[in-house]
Amino acid sequence: MEKMVAESAQFDVAARVAERFRLVRQRTLALCEPLTPEDMMVQSCPEASPAKWHLAHTAWFFESFVLREFLPGYRLFHQDFPWLFNSYYQSFSEFPEKRLRASFSRPGLEEVLRYREHVDAAMKRLLENDPHPEAVRRSELGANHEEQHQELLLTDVLNAFYTNPLKPAYRQQDCGEQSATGERQSRALRFIEFAGGLREIGHAGDGFCYDNELPRHRVWLEPYALAGRLVTCGEYAEFIADGGYRRPELWLSAGWDAVQANGWRAPLYWSKPDGEDGAWHIFTLRGTRSLAEMACAPVSQVSFFEADAYARWAGCRLPAEGEWEAAAESAPLQGNLLDSGRLMPAPPAGSIGDPHSMQSCYGDCWEWTASAYLGYPGFRPLAGALGEYNGKFMSGQMVLRGGSCVTPAAHIRASYRNFFPPETRWQFSGIRLAR
Ligand SMILES: [Fe+2]
Repeated sequence: MEKMVAESAQFDVAARVAERFRLVRQRTLALCEPLTPEDMMVQSCPEASPAKWHLAHTAWFFESFVLREFLPGYRLFHQDFPWLFNSYYQSFSEFPEKRLRASFSRPGLEEVLRYREHVDAAMKRLLENDPHPEAVRRSELGANHEEQHQELLLTDVLNAFYTNPLKPAYRQQDCGEQSATGERQSRALRFIEFAGGLREIGHAGDGFCYDNELPRHRVWLEPYALAGRLVTCGEYAEFIADGGYRRPELWLSAGWDAVQANGWRAPLYWSKPDGEDGAWHIFTLRGTRSLAEMACAPVSQVSFFEADAYARWAGCRLPAEGEWEAAAESAPLQGNLLDSGRLMPAPPAGSIGDPHSMQSCYGDCWEWTASAYLGYPGFRPLAGALGEYNGKFMSGQMVLRGGSCVTPAAHIRASYRNFFPPETRWQFSGIRLAR
């Protein structure tokens, strides 16, 4: 009887993962619908990859880590794809330099789409035929991996279109115009107080998480306060107008070096198309907007250094990741995520709700924290090549929390740790103040 119950539970898990796999794969293709084959070849900054590469690499993940090991008789779609579409797994195979991904005119888009179909058919066979529990676990990891690439695909397209002189919109401005900008009044910035004390952070429960969210462990938090919303474009413009980018006393040493070396004077997609005396414009997935239109929306595409300098200018600081997670643990898992369809940060909507708890932790922009990305006490990476997924990046990067307007809702949770080098600006990354 016990064995039957266990087998039935395993069947349910496999069926749930099979459905999740199907939906994730569909959505990746749907996100490419507004793109031309030529759009899908552009790699406009060192961090970005062409959309066509994202399509192939996400199929490669399932082929390499699930099908080859767990589907008897699986036939490779192409003998060169296992190394061609490897991203960074050194212990799996060699791989091409990242900067060369824009040179992959071959295989063509049609062949890449056939590669996806080949992998999808094999995955369906595997998941419907009493799969090994490890195959199911890796399939779920693969679905989460593909969701990360959905977000990257959109942030990479945004960069590609920003660098295109025609400044095309991924989605037209009039599509969802009302919901994209929302209310025009900025909500007053208020802080929510937390008592701190001995808390636990890290993933709990049976649901999916990455290895870097474990183990759950105790942290000590002094009493602290977090801003009830993100810093807005209008507020950030005040920082710029106050000489924020010309005052070294506001910046970390490496941050000031980055300002000088890169000529930063505003967030990544801010420009003054009418000359220095003109108004700021902000490029989005819905085309170019004026600062006036975006004034109440959260500022985005700032580096950790800019977030840190802004916080110092405002007389505040950035949250530690433990403070953020302890505050977010009881918050509803909702917000302006990919599923809202807005595709850009939006002013907070609706009522403020309970003034003593965090109501808006998720969506709009990833929130830079003051925490370096390190393994939790007792951290153990996954076995084998998949151990390279997260663990090997635990140096020189900062943690971001909360997801963005292009993060799938099914992908985010309180314990989720994103991470990027502190000078990174091409992601939807913003600022929540702490004190
Ligand atoms: Fe990847």
